[in-house]
Amino acid sequence: MFLPTDNSKNPPTLPRNCTFSESDWQILAGFWHPVAFLNDIANDPVSSTLLDEKLVIYRTSEGVNVAKDLCMHRGTRISLGSIRQDRLICPMHGLEFDWTGQCRKIPSLVDQTAAIPRKLCLRKYLSTERYGILWVCLKNEPIHPLPEWPELEQKESEYERIDIPLESAWNASASRQTENFIDIAHHPFVHLETFGNPNETQIEEHVIEKTTNGLKLHFRRKEMERGWHDPSSAGERLTDYIYDLTFPFAKDLFTEGVEDGIKCHFYDIASPVSANRTEIFQINLTNNLFCSREEFSKYQLVTNEEDRQYVEAQCPEEVPLDLRQEIHTPSDRFSIEYRRALVEKFGLGSPYVG
Ligand code: FES
Ligand SMILES: [Fe+2]
Repeated sequence: MFLPTDNSKNPPTLPRNCTFSESDWQILAGFWHPVAFLNDIANDPVSSTLLDEKLVIYRTSEGVNVAKDLCMHRGTRISLGSIRQDRLICPMHGLEFDWTGQCRKIPSLVDQTAAIPRKLCLRKYLSTERYGILWVCLKNEPIHPLPEWPELEQKESEYERIDIPLESAWNASASRQTENFIDIAHHPFVHLETFGNPNETQIEEHVIEKTTNGLKLHFRRKEMERGWHDPSSAGERLTDYIYDLTFPFAKDLFTEGVEDGIKCHFYDIASPVSANRTEIFQINLTNNLFCSREEFSKYQLVTNEEDRQYVEAQCPEEVPLDLRQEIHTPSDRFSIEYRRALVEKFGLGSPYVG
């Protein structure tokens, strides 16, 4: 009924009903995570959730701003409000907030020249725009950079860009989704409607490289072209794969047909809504857009659904960072390196020492 009075100097910083361990939340909050495609931020506030923290995203003439989705007056979700004359307006009593998050107007005041307390403001968060995506860090200092994807920023490019529409969030952790994305052994079993080749189950020796901000894997296999867009092209297709992972959840999968020279980048960033719910941001590039963008997207969405059914069924929902908790095969070297790095570089999965 009533929230007890808290006289402590350091009130808890974790979101209400946080689904992460405190240690993991404190570490993950230091990374950049995507929260929206910039094209989706227009004239109305947009709500989003990152690491269980509810956010409001609003555009003013100063740019796109991100804050906690909470009006400090009586606690309603300010994303239910509107934007007028460059101000975010709370729907409950009409308080108006500027791009800095400061309240600039209280409509109920008789004296409209009276000073407004500075603490009547929104809790702003760090945000940045890159690759057409809005990224947010819930700490004041990011602990790791954004992924470097130069092909997405070239003005004169051999590639065409396809933004994959956001689907409903996966009922899975960002770590399980990421591991599935970098798992090369599942293709012949899971992707039987798209590119998986049931005759290519064996995983040859492959190279894994430690990069400045993540891990890279080079691999070659005969994938299956099922002739979705051109039945005459159906058949096996020898393909080079380069997986370029930026910690913790950003992936660039580059594929190149050895004989046909068709090149694609599949960018895939898992954004942890909560410990067991994940929004997937995807951008594709191709040097051979042989069909409409809608058809190209559809192929990606079918591929996603092939993965989703098994990733959502994985137990435990989070990737166990104690390597003894699952049994590994030689084809799992990439995921083993990934698990090790999350522990050794960032301390994930262990008690927080802050
Ligand atoms: S709750 Fe936002 S103005 Fe009152
Ligand atoms: Fe997959």
